[in-house]
Amino acid sequence: MTDIKKISATDFGDDFLWGVAISAAQNEGAYNIGGRGLSVWDVFSKRQGKIKSGAKPFESCDFYHRYKDDLLLVKVLGFKVFRFSIAWSRILPDGTGNINKEGIAFYHRLIDECLKLDLIPYITLYHWDLPYALEKEGGWTSHKIIKWFSRFTTICANEYGTKVKNWIILNEPMGFTSLGYMIGKHAPGKLGLDNFLPAVHNAAMVQAEGGRIIRNLVANSNIGTSFSCSEVIPYSTNRKDIEAANRVDILMNRLFIEPSLGLGYPDDGFALMDKLHLHNKAWKYTKQMQFDFDFIGLQNYFPVTIKYNPVIPVIQASEVKAAKRRVPHTGMGWEINPDSFYRMIKRFSEYDGVKKIIVTENGAFFKDKLVNGVVNDVERMDYFKKYISALLKAKKEAINVNGYFAWTLTDNFEWSEGYHASFGLVHVDFTTQLRTVKQSGHWFREFLSPSS
Ligand code: BGC
Repeated sequence: MTDIKKISATDFGDDFLWGVAISAAQNEGAYNIGGRGLSVWDVFSKRQGKIKSGAKPFESCDFYHRYKDDLLLVKVLGFKVFRFSIAWSRILPDGTGNINKEGIAFYHRLIDECLKLDLIPYITLYHWDLPYALEKEGGWTSHKIIKWFSRFTTICANEYGTKVKNWIILNEPMGFTSLGYMIGKHAPGKLGLDNFLPAVHNAAMVQAEGGRIIRNLVANSNIGTSFSCSEVIPYSTNRKDIEAANRVDILMNRLFIEPSLGLGYPDDGFALMDKLHLHNKAWKYTKQMQFDFDFIGLQNYFPVTIKYNPVIPVIQASEVKAAKRRVPHTGMGWEINPDSFYRMIKRFSEYDGVKKIIVTENGAFFKDKLVNGVVNDVERMDYFKKYISALLKAKKEAINVNGYFAWTLTDNFEWSEGYHASFGLVHVDFTTQLRTVKQSGHWFREFLSPSS
C-alpha cells in the first residue's frame, strides 16, 4: 500500500472530484416547517424502541436553517463537491398532488448558495425519506411508486436542471429495501419477503426510470445512482460457508447493479432469486430495468465475513462480527479494511457498462470527545488516510474512479442509531447547534489544499 504520509490530493489529478455528502432526513430537521409533509422516518421514530434513546429526526443539525454556514464549512475544508438529497415530502407534502412552493424555493436557495461558493452540487433524488402519505398506499411495495417517483423527479428536473447537472437517482436501494422492508430495522419497519420482493423490483425499476427522466429533461446531465457494497469473505474454505457467502454477495453486491446494466437479476442457483423473478415476472422487465448511467456511485464502509447458519431463514447465513474475530473495527462494529475497499472498486469497475465510478460515500463512526474546543478524532483520521490510500492504489492502476465524497459533513441523525453514532468531520452540539471542526476535518483541509 502507498505510504499514507506521502499522499496528497494532487496525486489524484486535477479533475478528481473531492466532495462531502449529507442527506435531507439526516440533516435538515425543520420537519414541520416550510410546508413539509411527514416522511416515514418522522413517523417511524415515534414507535417505541425503534431508534436508540428514542431520538427523533425533527431538528437534527438544523441544516434547513443553517445551510449557509454549513456550506461555508464545506468550502473552508477544501471540498469541490457538495452532495445532498432532496426531501420528497418538502416538494410534495403528500408525495403526489400539490407542489409546495416553499420547499421548491428552499432547494433553489441551497443550490444558488453552492454555486455562489463555487461548489458543484450533486443531487440525490431519494435518500430513504419516503413521504408518509405514500407509505400508507404501500410505499415501495406498490408498483405505483414508479409513477409517483416519476412525477417527483420530473418536478425536480424541471426546477433545478438548468443549475444542476449531476444527479444520483437512488441512495443504496439494498439498504432501504432490506432494512426497511425485510428486517424492519429502518422506516417504515416492514418485515418479510412479501414486502421485500416487490420493494426490490420497484426500486430496480425506479432507478432506471429516474435516469431516463433526467436524461430527457436535463441538458448535459451527468447521471448516476449509488450502490452500497461490501466484500463478502467466507469464514472458512468449507463448501457450506462459501455457498453462504455467495448468497450474501448476490444480495449485497449484485442485486441492483446487474439489472441496471441490462443483465437482469443475478441468479446463480439461489432460491430467493427464483422467487424474486417469479414474484415480479422479472424476465419481462430486463430492458426497463436497464439504464446507461454516466457513473456508478460506489459506497463502501466495511467487508463482511459470512458463515453458513441453517437457522437463519431464506439466506441461511450469518455474519461473524469483526469484534469476535478480533480485527480492527469502527464504533459501529464495522471492520476497517482499506484493501477490501480497493478490491470492491476494482470489482465494480470490471463490469462491462460501468463507465466511471465515483465513491459517493465512505466514512466512519468513532466515539468523539470534545475537550477544550477540540475533537481529536485520531481513529477517524487514520481511517480516512488508509481508505484514501487504497483509492489511490486503484487510481494508479488506471481504474476509472473519478471522485470521492466523504460521509459526512456534520454529525447528524444516524437512522436507527439516533445521534450517538457520529460520522461527521464537524462535531455538532445538538443542544446549542454549535459546530466544531474535528481534527479529521482539519486533516482534509490540509490534504485538499496543502499550506506548504
Ligand atoms: C447511508 C448513510 C448512512 C451511512 C452510515 C450509508 O449507508 O447512505 O445515510 O448515514 O451509511 O451508516
